[in-house]
Amino acid sequence: MTVTDAALEAHLVATRKGRYDSYRDLLRIPSISALPQHAGDCRRAAAWLADALTRAGVEHAELAETGGHPVVYADWLHAPGAPTVLVYGHYDVQPVDPLELWTSPPFEPVIVGDRLLARGAADDKGHVHAHVMAAEALLATRGGLPVNVKYLFEGEEESGSVNLDRWLEENRERLTADVVVISDTGFFEGNRPAITIGLRGLMYAQIDVVGTPVDVHSGGYGGVVENPANALAQIIAALKGPDGRVRIPGFYDDVVALTDDERAAMAALPFDEEAYRQRIGVPALVGEVGFTVLERKGARPSLDVNGIWGGFTGEGSKTIIPAHAHAKVSCRLVTAQDPDRIFEALRSFVVEIAPPGVTTTVHQLAGGRPSLTPQDHPATKAAARALEATFGEAPVYIREGGSIPVCASFESILGLPVVMLGFSQPDEHAHAPNEWIDLANYETGIRTFARMWDELAEVPR
Ligand code: BES
Ligand code: MN
Ligand code: MN
Repeated sequence: MTVTDAALEAHLVATRKGRYDSYRDLLRIPSISALPQHAGDCRRAAAWLADALTRAGVEHAELAETGGHPVVYADWLHAPGAPTVLVYGHYDVQPVDPLELWTSPPFEPVIVGDRLLARGAADDKGHVHAHVMAAEALLATRGGLPVNVKYLFEGEEESGSVNLDRWLEENRERLTADVVVISDTGFFEGNRPAITIGLRGLMYAQIDVVGTPVDVHSGGYGGVVENPANALAQIIAALKGPDGRVRIPGFYDDVVALTDDERAAMAALPFDEEAYRQRIGVPALVGEVGFTVLERKGARPSLDVNGIWGGFTGEGSKTIIPAHAHAKVSCRLVTAQDPDRIFEALRSFVVEIAPPGVTTTVHQLAGGRPSLTPQDHPATKAAARALEATFGEAPVYIREGGSIPVCASFESILGLPVVMLGFSQPDEHAHAPNEWIDLANYETGIRTFARMWDELAEVPR
């Protein structure tokens, strides 16, 4: 392995301006997967990536149909005897509202100081683009990659990856590999290099409470009919106790408890709880009693209302009993909780506690399983060496509270180990107004990917 690849570095320095232009081109495409009116933009982003991969020298780039937004697949398989890596990222982004809180339009990327500001800059177009640029630089300077690489960029991660499992099953053969590298995670507090080894799963549901066929006069009917909004409030209040414990029967049945060693490892992370609280800007941190903040967010399940609506919300007063009320409720899950079982537990509990006089129904909107990836796998160690070589600091190993549904599927459907290697920062405003990426992380990230391929090629097989 070339310890310092001077040619690669020189190429990356010489091509920096063009690289930023290209990165911004990708960020200009409003590929919001959740909104049907952006389906064309999702396809455009996919086509843009297939074209960029081809121009970089990666082969067989295609838009593969999934029934939803297409998957981008491409490969470069000319390293006989070397391992094969399946790289995963997503080109779709979250919606951008509230628009008025953005300091510049979300799809008009701008560089402010060391930061590039745009929706998707970090989550996840920055990582996807960095992978393409790493391949481009290696192919341009060496004429080849040190390992075989298959690229899989999906367009529905931010809306639950609903079509991806089926596509993985149908494409098992062409997805054979030795390891998956998911680049959709970030560093630890204060931009400390990190490898994520745990992700939470997700169960997302909607509760609908229906009373009278239309809104009725609250004077004429108040005290006589059940109010769906009151009923919904009662239901939601019953889901969680003041101790932060979820009260759905059976909710914790499948939760695998942390071992003493795992708790010690989490406690040893350089985490300043007070600085964390201040960064978020809340008066206090709350949650399940008996667990630390890092345990609660990475290794314990949670339940939250994501949205709640019903009745009159305009200005002034309108005296009605609303005909219906609704809430979106989701749970972050940990191993070995199953989203479908948790949904069923929620549904039967809600129906059981729902007050009489209204009709209460619950339906599931999305789901994803939690995952834990191996910390001692040779590929994880190769990633750690690559991070240390490029960022100058050995990574810490963390459990993230967010979800990447396909992570568990790579293990269960393709039987592959996963390494999560990403460079975004905890306060990057992902999913929020003014998302940004630290351009130094993006640049060093490109070098880390190149270095990781070199490290992997050296791992004895
Ligand atoms: N990149 C995130 C997942 C993530 C969040 C990783 C925080 C590490 C730290 C991903 O794009 C995401 O937002 N996932 C969704 C999944 C959902 C829509 C099924 C999430 O976690 O809400
Ligand atoms: Mn993401
Ligand atoms: Mn996201």
